[in-house]
Amino acid sequence: MGAPQDLSKRFVEDCLEKWRIWRRVQDHSILHSKLAISPQNWHITRMAKSKSYSCSDCGAVTNKWSGRCDSCGAWNTISEDTALSSGPSKTSLGAKKGSPVNLSNLDTDEAPNPRTQSGIDELDRVLGGGLVPASAILVGGDPGIGKSTLLLQAAAQFARNGLKTIYISGEEASAQVRMRAQRLGLKEAPIQLGAETNLRNILTTLDSEKPKLVIIDSIQTIWSDHVDSAPGSVSQVRAAAHELTNFAKKRGISVVLVGHVTKEGQIAGPRVVEHMVDTVLYFEGERGHQFRILRAVKNRFGAADEIGVFEMTGKGLQEISNPSALFLSERGTPSPGSVVFAGVEGTRPVLVEFQALVAPTPHAQARRSVVGWDNARLAMVLAVLEARCGIPFSGMDVYLNVAGGLKINEPAADLAVAAALLSAREDLSLPAESVVFGEISLSGALRPVVQSENRLKEAQKLGFSKAIIPAAEQRLSKEYLELSQFTDLSSFVGDIFGAG
Ligand code: TYD
Ligand code: MG
Repeated sequence: MGAPQDLSKRFVEDCLEKWRIWRRVQDHSILHSKLAISPQNWHITRMAKSKSYSCSDCGAVTNKWSGRCDSCGAWNTISEDTALSSGPSKTSLGAKKGSPVNLSNLDTDEAPNPRTQSGIDELDRVLGGGLVPASAILVGGDPGIGKSTLLLQAAAQFARNGLKTIYISGEEASAQVRMRAQRLGLKEAPIQLGAETNLRNILTTLDSEKPKLVIIDSIQTIWSDHVDSAPGSVSQVRAAAHELTNFAKKRGISVVLVGHVTKEGQIAGPRVVEHMVDTVLYFEGERGHQFRILRAVKNRFGAADEIGVFEMTGKGLQEISNPSALFLSERGTPSPGSVVFAGVEGTRPVLVEFQALVAPTPHAQARRSVVGWDNARLAMVLAVLEARCGIPFSGMDVYLNVAGGLKINEPAADLAVAAALLSAREDLSLPAESVVFGEISLSGALRPVVQSENRLKEAQKLGFSKAIIPAAEQRLSKEYLELSQFTDLSSFVGDIFGAG
């Protein structure tokens, strides 16, 4: 009889199969299986991984391939089954019914809630025309740039204008905030102060006090007892921001979160909460300069890229309503390398000075140093000057600076940068009282830009008489300035600098 022999053969095969699977587990081939893998439960692993085979003649299903079907005896009919989608897993949300969502159409009779103005025009404009009720705002910036000062001043103004305002400081004791308020002349403002970092306590306070505006300074100090990690970690900051914004929206409270821009990775920066809020403002500025710029990088209720300009003084932040005059105030007589760019920040035209310095390099590799503009964009302008106008900058150090600490992001500044670089290189000043704007394409052509008329008007207001702009700028009124228009960079270079 062959039966005992068959049995022992099957036993050996089985053992071999077990061994092979165990080796596979050891080789991490089943690393991602959720099952705990050990020799005791190897069979579970095997089930999770096993393939199935079926006979195309009789439909019998087996778990291993063979040349002949055991059921019907047909040869060469067994093939591997390709798995269909396993469908939603038992733990998926679809397995359990939720409650239906209330759907509505876009039509409404409700008037939108009015915005509240702070009276600080530079702030109100950046917010898109005032504070929207139940909105979440993130104010980011380097430590020490003046976020707490700005928000204390803003909170005082909102409180005076009738919004019940709570200022929660997680960094400073109430006494410190009070001292600062005294210095800023705000001690009469009806703000309620709290020094707290526990999220649960903050939410409980908001629940009972029912304010209209709450300022959290800063979100990196707030911790939730739901989350195990340390305050300031990504998960804590996310959880705290999420809870606060959700809670505030439900109760109709506007919430302002302060976030420090951090250099090292241990503490989460404001970027991790950008997507949770309606408005993201960054407070920028150079440490050495007294100018501060509040820039909207995201705004669900207004124009992004809008800026507000402030000056840090001994009595806090003062708004600057005419920034062009301020940015050009340090400009003396026109000198080589200096060009005035007529720019637009958000909805407002702003005139700034580009300064360039071009000098032979003592090093093997020439330096390219940029403050206030984009490095890659500078490289592009240099490449176009070299390739399309035949003016090389290799072997020369190039320094480019935007005076006043403003950061320019517009491609409209290309032509002003090219003019500043050429002016520095050729040691020739541009015609006095002229402004420049225009985008440069890789072919060397000059492209029109947005809001040209506004730029010209602003330049005229500040006493400029001439504008160097792309020829493609059509239908521009000549009443503001005398216009010099060029179709491409090389004609501009030939005309202004007499080179090409
Ligand atoms: P702060 O608002 O504390 O910065 P942040 O909250 O962004 O960390 O501002 C700190 C700096 O501002 C500090 O260097 C001192 C300066 N400052 C003034 O120059 N004048 C003032 O009236 C105040 C309140 C601060
Ligand atoms: Mg602060």
